[in-house]
Amino acid sequence: PPPPPPPQTNDISSCLLSNGVSNFSLPSSPSYTPLLDSSIRNLRFELPGVGKPAAVILPASKRDLRRAVLCARGASLAIRVRSGGHSYEGLSYTTENRVPFAVIDLANLNRVRVDPGSATAWAESGATLGEVYRAVGLSSRNLALSAGSCATIGVGGHAAGGGFGLLSRKHGLAADNVLDAVLIDPSGNTLTRETMDDDVFWAIRGGGGGSWGVVYAWKLRLVPVPDNITVFSVGRTGPVELIAGLMHRWQYVGPSLPDEFYLSTYIPTRSSNGNLSMSFTGQVLGPKHLAMSVLNQTFPELGLAESELSEVSWLESAVKFAGLSSVADLTSRQIGVGQYAKRKSDYVQAPISMQGTIKILQRMSTGPQGSIQLDPYGGAMARIGSAATPFPHRAGYLYSIQYAVSWNASDLDRAEEHIGWLRSFYGFMAPFVSKNPRGAYVNYLDLDLGTNDWANATGGASSKSVARAASWGERYFFTNFDRLVRAKSKVDPENVFNNAQSIPPLRYDR
Ligand code: FDA
Repeated sequence: PPPPPPPQTNDISSCLLSNGVSNFSLPSSPSYTPLLDSSIRNLRFELPGVGKPAAVILPASKRDLRRAVLCARGASLAIRVRSGGHSYEGLSYTTENRVPFAVIDLANLNRVRVDPGSATAWAESGATLGEVYRAVGLSSRNLALSAGSCATIGVGGHAAGGGFGLLSRKHGLAADNVLDAVLIDPSGNTLTRETMDDDVFWAIRGGGGGSWGVVYAWKLRLVPVPDNITVFSVGRTGPVELIAGLMHRWQYVGPSLPDEFYLSTYIPTRSSNGNLSMSFTGQVLGPKHLAMSVLNQTFPELGLAESELSEVSWLESAVKFAGLSSVADLTSRQIGVGQYAKRKSDYVQAPISMQGTIKILQRMSTGPQGSIQLDPYGGAMARIGSAATPFPHRAGYLYSIQYAVSWNASDLDRAEEHIGWLRSFYGFMAPFVSKNPRGAYVNYLDLDLGTNDWANATGGASSKSVARAASWGERYFFTNFDRLVRAKSKVDPENVFNNAQSIPPLRYDR
């Protein structure tokens, strides 16, 4: 059936205008579609059948942001907050069951203020990681932010769900380095760490975006880095047995290297001439000779050559790992770059046997275009307590797996087939990964794990909503889920900020 037109809501535009918020776009405006699509990274959610918002609002200040929240509520629109738009399931710009909604897009709230003296930065949530990295790296060669590698991710959604990157084995997640935050609550109040409930300040640092209010800005701890660090990206190609040997051995190396080392691996599904390929991404907080001596001793099978390594500043490393070519590119929003994709995640607690590794790679080589990415934990990741923040995958977790399939516009009619393959591969992986519960990473959001049913959640359904959400919430957060429900009940008892996998409040149907 043809998609229904986006709802026209005059209320919201008159409310915004009368409150001095002028930068917004309604479906009738020529700017609406380019603006809505501007940061959509998963093109599945750009397709015409996906429900569109009644308005896209671009606040220019904290005041505008508060008013946008109140006007959206006043117009009975659900609120979707978007920072970088990288949600794997499009939750920052879609709703379930065609509930009318407004997108509050923070793209213009992207100021970053670095204080090298105290090694901290305030970043507005709409700043991309690239914008933050550039500001930090230009302020001092010896300061960095511990966060993910894609430069167009929004710091708003990223720190809200954790934020793992090349410095995490040394310094933890982005969320572990949040020192303060400015949160706009459902009533439009401005809360900071000092005025926020402790459970709420804990929850916003890893409990997932979209549940608590709008984080207007984060205060981030910056971490020390040497003048030069060693980086490399190397590929290896060969028959299944050779690649399996490297993958099998990596499991013992990646998670147990010194904290200064990061070594992840990426394996595409496609084989050519019966050969598989595999790439390794490495970063060492030290000189080449240190990297060479440690890696050749712990991982001689990789056969790393000194010519494959380079020494660069941390800022240059951020450029490299974002796949960019210059520091200036870090602030490019790369509009229009997206993929039709589906991703899922897992955690591994015990190394997979060589035989198991071969089976996994054989299975992958039958798949559509896709990949697995293995990110090493250990180091600081294992030393931070599993209840220190909502993110629970700490001691005892060797590495995460991210599964992905992607396809092109010319292949849209095969989308379900590709997603189906990924789901069956995920099923096949069950014996090899964490269990009871099978862990997942909330920043790698996966609606296959379950969804809220807000449409039917009124009239005494509160404990049911919580029980339902526990089925995926405990996979993202383990027992931290209970504290998240407590935090939600305090900061948003009316469930104003909700989405398909948001944390439900206990007293929702009071
Ligand atoms: P987006 O704007 O879509 O928001 C994500 C969620 O947070 C939504 O529910 C949204 O409503 C909410 N939200 C956003 N801003 C908010 C705010 N200010 N206040 C409250 N809620 C807010 N992860 C990782 O840990 N390490 C990595 O290296 C990568 N790499 C990576 C590469 C690519 C290409 C993609 C697409 C994704 C990743 N990720 C990742 C995952 C990424 O961290 C995750 O999708 C983040 O939630 C994205 O944050 P954005 O602000 O970009 O997303």
